[in-house]
Amino acid sequence: MTSIGNERQGVNQASGIEGNAFIGPEGVLAKRRAYFYPCTQHFYRQPPQIVRGSMQYLYDHEGRRYTDFFAGVSVVACGHCNPRIAEASVKQLQTLQHTTTIYLTQPMADLAERLANGILPGRLSRTFFCNSGSEANEGALLLARLHTKRRDFLALEYGLHGRTWLTMGVTGLPMWRADDHLDEGGVTFIPRPYEPGLDAETAMRRSLEALKQALEADPERYAAMIVEPVQGNGGIIVPPEGYFREVKALLEAYGVLLIADEIQTGFGRTGRMFALDYDGVAPDIVSMAKALGNGVPIGAFATTDEIAASFNRPSASTFGGNPVSSATALAVLGYIEEEGLVERASRLGERLKQGLEELQRKHQVIADVRGRGLMLGAELQGAAGTDSAALTDAVLEAMKERGFIIGKNGIGRNVLAFQPPLVIEAGDIDAMLEALDDVLGGIEA
Ligand SMILES: Cc1ncc(COP(=O)(O)O)c(C=O)c1O
Repeated sequence: MTSIGNERQGVNQASGIEGNAFIGPEGVLAKRRAYFYPCTQHFYRQPPQIVRGSMQYLYDHEGRRYTDFFAGVSVVACGHCNPRIAEASVKQLQTLQHTTTIYLTQPMADLAERLANGILPGRLSRTFFCNSGSEANEGALLLARLHTKRRDFLALEYGLHGRTWLTMGVTGLPMWRADDHLDEGGVTFIPRPYEPGLDAETAMRRSLEALKQALEADPERYAAMIVEPVQGNGGIIVPPEGYFREVKALLEAYGVLLIADEIQTGFGRTGRMFALDYDGVAPDIVSMAKALGNGVPIGAFATTDEIAASFNRPSASTFGGNPVSSATALAVLGYIEEEGLVERASRLGERLKQGLEELQRKHQVIADVRGRGLMLGAELQGAAGTDSAALTDAVLEAMKERGFIIGKNGIGRNVLAFQPPLVIEAGDIDAMLEALDDVLGGIEA
């Protein structure tokens, strides 16, 4: 058996977990190697063991503080262990944890009502609750099939929609298509409206033309098109202004539904409640997860009365909308509103973007800065012959050493991703930019 070193019995002061032997990062890595599948990867050559979180900060086993600029991949928008939200979760946990949908409980009904009144875009008013983003998209795709009575889907190249068979099938990022036997025939990928070296207008026209051709080639074929309004994993790609308005008009002409995967972008992340709001477009179906639970698992897909009516065969999710997730999500929505987090994401996102653009002017290694609100990316490109992904890893490692957790994504895994908790403060942003300036200067020297 693999040896799990560094054992220390008793109370773990660092994590506060009573009775658990403290095994440290090497011990955790050894257990992961021994008991996880090899598909499970981690950031950093020398990863810290994260033992505690408080709002925009994470703490490791040695008590070191990190300012979190990734929020567990766009999840913890209201901050780690936010006391007001944790109180709602704990209170519900101690009152009633689980019954499932066949019994009447109030938090789930209150949450659906809250979403329908002032949160969901357009005429969307009915919600099905589940447990994750993949499951939300899977349900959204099923709903589109049931409503249109058509089978196939359109998706954008380099999008990411999940880990289940159907959602992996509409995922255009090669890295996240783990199955060699996906149902290729049922999905048509459209070029995304972005291509390095192409101007925005040309990239947008190319994408719209490809969409038009696909629709014209077989007008009755497609049930829905699924899109991320800002591609997250694909490298923080914001389509040009007006793109989704034209997409929606084209789809409508052919009776094809638009599914907005707002799993990463939803609930204020981009400076609007939903990212598609920027184009003034309401999707037919929106899928949600991540920030809705601020770390407590929840997923959901919502639609109009008319489309929802097509989903009338029995269906249920054992854990979907359970009282704890629902009470938590209600507290999340309340917190976002009371603290003005949507406007805050817009304001602080502008500060962060300007700072990154300043660094771009100073450091050649930053090839591009893009994104919206507090969903920003900085693409790194080393000198000819340099491995940009390795360079990005080196920057992540050096920033971690300075107390900043930054994400990464992109087709070439060379985009620094900045998606902090929306409660981040101006001072945190300025401190991070100063450290990044220093790190990039060191790398270029
Ligand atoms: C845009 C998008 N859709 C779907 C998913 C899948 O969500 P989950 O991991 O909760 O299944 C992700 C995960 O990162 C995502 O970013």
